[in-house]
Amino acid sequence: MLKNLPFNNPILTASGTFGYAREMSGVFEISRLGGIIPKTVTLFPRAGNPPPRTFETASGLLNSIGLDNDGIDDFIDAKLPYLRTIGTKIIASVAVKSSDECLIMGEKLQTAEGIDAIELNVSCPNVSGGVDFAGDPKLCERVVSSFCRVLALPLFVKLSPNFFNIGEVAKAAESGGASGISAVNTCLGLAVDWRRRRPRLGNGLGGLSGPAIKPIALRCVHQVFKAVKIPVIGIGGIETIDDAMEFFIAGASAIQIGTANFFNPKAATKILDELPIALAELKAKSITEIIGTLDI
Ligand SMILES: Cc1cc2nc3c(=O)[nH]c(=O)nc-3n(C[C@H](O)[C@H](O)[C@H](O)COP(=O)(O)O)c2cc1C
Repeated sequence: MLKNLPFNNPILTASGTFGYAREMSGVFEISRLGGIIPKTVTLFPRAGNPPPRTFETASGLLNSIGLDNDGIDDFIDAKLPYLRTIGTKIIASVAVKSSDECLIMGEKLQTAEGIDAIELNVSCPNVSGGVDFAGDPKLCERVVSSFCRVLALPLFVKLSPNFFNIGEVAKAAESGGASGISAVNTCLGLAVDWRRRRPRLGNGLGGLSGPAIKPIALRCVHQVFKAVKIPVIGIGGIETIDDAMEFFIAGASAIQIGTANFFNPKAATKILDELPIALAELKAKSITEIIGTLDI
């Protein structure tokens, strides 16, 4: 158990990069992970954005999936029964359009068996209105407190790197009752096919992830760590033990592996295996001793 976090270890996989876990079974022992965050679900099914939905850039992946999902009821009835069998913590990822939706979703999630925590995605850049809550502290606090009114489960709020006030928004989420902050979602980007004078993605803009965004994500994690008392979960360009350690030192209490799952599906378990060696190098007995110890 980690301090203030309901996971057995600090290595998790990020929403949208691990499917609903069935896709990754057989690749490695998923039960070893601290937890998994399946693809974000919404109250009603969403068809997502027009293709192409992904484009590989020099050092990162640009995507515009648009929260394609079959809705919360399908998640609970069709995806959760398998997720429950895995033997690791399940952090359901949800996105909402309004405070009213928080009440309906919160009640459904609270009564569903096998969910250990919720990650509220207020930061998807690929849907209209998807980042409103992440850029406005007041809106963010309102939506988080609406959820917390009906939810006894821990709630992590996933923020966007696309606003300069991430510390302020994190504070607002904390005031609203969040148990932790996940930082960060993708960085808004654009890839251009100059010959056709067209964007590479069907939806125009997309979210950049992978190695390219690691310095931005580290900056965000550190700013959030300084701003709040609740734990920060670091996400963005993590593939190796060195990446992971950088996030712990910057202030993350746990980390999520995202895009790396696509090209190195064993990245998460390799980090887990190498964590004790890296901690020993810093003469630390546990990760708690090193979190946020950046000398800046
Ligand atoms: C193809 C793709 C789909 C994603 N879908 C979601 C999603 O449904 N919900 C969410 O919160 N984040 C989603 N993300 C963002 C990741 O969870 C993660 O925050 C981001 O990619 C940064 O981490 P990374 O650089 O390790 O990938 C998605 C990312 C990718 C690449």
